[in-house]
Amino acid sequence: MSDQRPILTTRQGHPVRDNQSLRTVGERGPATLENYQFIEKITHFDRERIPERVVHARGAGAHGWFEAYGKIGDEPASKYTRARVLTETGVKTPMFVRFSTVAGAKESPETERDPRGFAVKFKTVEGNWDLVGNNLKIFFIRDAIKFPDMIHAFKPDPVTNRQEAWRFFDFVSQHPESIHMVTFLKSPWGIPANYREMEGSGVNTYKLVNDQGVAHLCKFHWIPKQGVRNLTSAQASEIQAKDVGHATRDLYDNIKAGNFPEWEFAVQIMPDGPNDHLSFDPLDDTKLWPVDQFPLLKCGRMVLDRVPDNFFAEVEQSAFGTGVLVDGIDFSDDKMLQGRTLSYSDTQRYRVGANYLQLPINAPQPGVKVYSNQRDGVMTYHVDGTGPNRHINYEPSTLAEGLREAPKPARDYHQPVQGNLGRYQTSRTEDDYTQAGERYRSFEPWERDELIANLVGDMKQCPEPIQLRMVWHFWHADEEYGRRVAEGAGIDLEKAKALPPLPGRAAPGQRLQAETYSDGTQAHKVAAE
Ligand code: HEM
Repeated sequence: MSDQRPILTTRQGHPVRDNQSLRTVGERGPATLENYQFIEKITHFDRERIPERVVHARGAGAHGWFEAYGKIGDEPASKYTRARVLTETGVKTPMFVRFSTVAGAKESPETERDPRGFAVKFKTVEGNWDLVGNNLKIFFIRDAIKFPDMIHAFKPDPVTNRQEAWRFFDFVSQHPESIHMVTFLKSPWGIPANYREMEGSGVNTYKLVNDQGVAHLCKFHWIPKQGVRNLTSAQASEIQAKDVGHATRDLYDNIKAGNFPEWEFAVQIMPDGPNDHLSFDPLDDTKLWPVDQFPLLKCGRMVLDRVPDNFFAEVEQSAFGTGVLVDGIDFSDDKMLQGRTLSYSDTQRYRVGANYLQLPINAPQPGVKVYSNQRDGVMTYHVDGTGPNRHINYEPSTLAEGLREAPKPARDYHQPVQGNLGRYQTSRTEDDYTQAGERYRSFEPWERDELIANLVGDMKQCPEPIQLRMVWHFWHADEEYGRRVAEGAGIDLEKAKALPPLPGRAAPGQRLQAETYSDGTQAHKVAAE
């Protein structure tokens, strides 16, 4: 039978007649330099890798769609937002999702104890909306300036290239706001069974803006219809011994078998403003918004039904960013969100290239026409909006070919801002312990046992000053929590309890002192000694 398969070519379109041998001078002689076919092949290979993501390097992606209920809870979605992706029913918005771990390198095991990334790209009729979230609903820190230090402490030691418990807890011990997240992370919630059976959350606080230009603060969450399942350390070790990519396998196998994973999309909402009556600051991402006060209001669902054709093109080159919002969804002053919004597109211009938004995986859906005046740069693939504006790459222009601004909404949202420029703590209270203690007590006994065993193992690897400070934090969250960690790791509980508050921090539970400036604005700081 004749072979009908396509012929192998170079990228110049030349047929490759011999892909087995270099061109050499005689059978045993040296190779020659003019061998274009070989040079194209090997030099392209030399450039196959781009820098892996500085965080969340290990990941898996899938395509799917989103469908809005047109309601937020029992009310019309339009009451809160004019974003069509949430108000219009009967539309299947194409989506791409990338799940990930945080600290590990690109091929690291998917069983690692780590938050899981849950990054979602909605390709809406109004352009892209990225919701770059995690599985857990809170985070370690609440000020973006701390992120590089945090990641350095969590990633491997720059000398030995080993992750170390003492580096992690050295950083954490100086940040009481991280105890809540650490309590989740060191419990079985730190190792989700796979990417399907886990929740997702935008973590940071956003705003929904309606037609009247009225804004509400909100949090976004994904609720898996598959349920939530986590692993013990022993279960994770057993899986890891056989498979370092079990979560990708699980995702791909289920989608290929037609068992499409599905999540409901829900929001928590509160009025915009300082919300001074709350015991926590709604812009502080280390705190949960309690669901009894701020219920999860369902507003849509997402189904993942297609695996990528090519991992590199679609998963590795995918680029999500917190700055990518549609009209009707806005930024809050959450200091993490503001810092993140610079970081993502900045790293993507470096990691993927200046024209990363021209790649099909990152570009808006075909129904949305991109007409920009951005031109050139490495790997320009096409001129945005090829056609009428080929010559006119500036705005405003009096000529028919020029681009014009979009009409403004009838009522725009204008956030009032007043304050004194400076560096402030986000929190109004130094209460970083109440929710951590609630979390500890909310766990089932086996989850608490796992948490304590994991922390005891970690504490044994830390020097005494870090051990004492960590027990001090755990004890302030819940006395039993602190006592069990101390007893398990052989740490002197009385010595830990006798420690003074951290420098620059108020004593646990103490309200920060309000300082009033000449213009009447207030900020909170630690009371003078
Ligand atoms: C100030 C704090 C933060 C900074 C500066 C930051 C920065 C970054 C950077 C530079 C990347 C790599 C992006 C890329 O190469 O494409 C990344 C990835 C990611 N970050 Fe953050 N991050 C922060 C906090 C958070 C928080 C709080 C969350 C959870 C809500 C989060 C979730 C993610 C996810 C899911 C990814 C992977 C996105 C993907 O799958 O491509 N990050 N982050």
